[in-house]
Amino acid sequence: MKILITAGPTREPLDPVRFLSNRSSGRMGYALAKAFALRKEHVLLISGPTTLPIPDHVDFIPVESAQEMYDVVAHHLNQMDVAIFCAAVADYTPTTVADQKIKKSEDTITITLKKTPDILGSARSLMNFTGYLVGFAAETENLEANARRKLETKHCDMIIANDVSQAGIGFDSNDNEVLIVEAAENTALPRDSKEHLSRHIAEIIMQRFRQKNEASDSQTQLS
Ligand code: PMT
Repeated sequence: MKILITAGPTREPLDPVRFLSNRSSGRMGYALAKAFALRKEHVLLISGPTTLPIPDHVDFIPVESAQEMYDVVAHHLNQMDVAIFCAAVADYTPTTVADQKIKKSEDTITITLKKTPDILGSARSLMNFTGYLVGFAAETENLEANARRKLETKHCDMIIANDVSQAGIGFDSNDNEVLIVEAAENTALPRDSKEHLSRHIAEIIMQRFRQKNEASDSQTQLS
């Protein structure tokens, strides 16, 4: 089975030496890549800049910006059975990138930002992905309701939601605690290391992927 996983932050350049980014360490996405590789699945990890070693037996493509991540995902997505979007992609990027280092002159400066492409949101509509689609949701309130809205609007099979307002889980931590939101049910996985959680999540995704395929096979036989 072929699995695409996005991980890490993106960097949105302001000038040759500065960028906008976030606190994603890549640990959650890399742990998932490792969990699927241990199950002997074929993993393509597309990652923003992190300090983590590349997991063994995983194909790896490094990217920097949201647009670069979009382009690489778009190129590979339709060869995949499962796609898991764990990256903390910047929602906005500067409208212009200065050719030279921005000089310190005024007391305040204004940077105008524009929306980045929504990679997860484009998977079904623009990239025509028909495989098993998993998004993440990083929320600070209304975890289940916000995750369910993402499940529906982005046409996902599953959303893995984490409360990133809680200390010790979410961004840049070894542990996480997630709520898996699917159309028919929710599954809460209590706080554990990202490594252990990922093994559990990989098991659940494989099971759901098989169930979805069996259901569509029996549908085809009936029609
Ligand atoms: O990397 P770690 O330090 O281990 O931290 C893990 C994590 C907190 C980053 C991870 O568990 C997580 O929550 N990842 C998703 C972060 C995020 O951007 O969530 P969001 O709710 O803003 O986005 C929803 C979904 O859309 C995500 O699947 C995201 O990858 C995707 N997205 C967002 C914006 C965009 N332009 N394109 C996207 O594909």
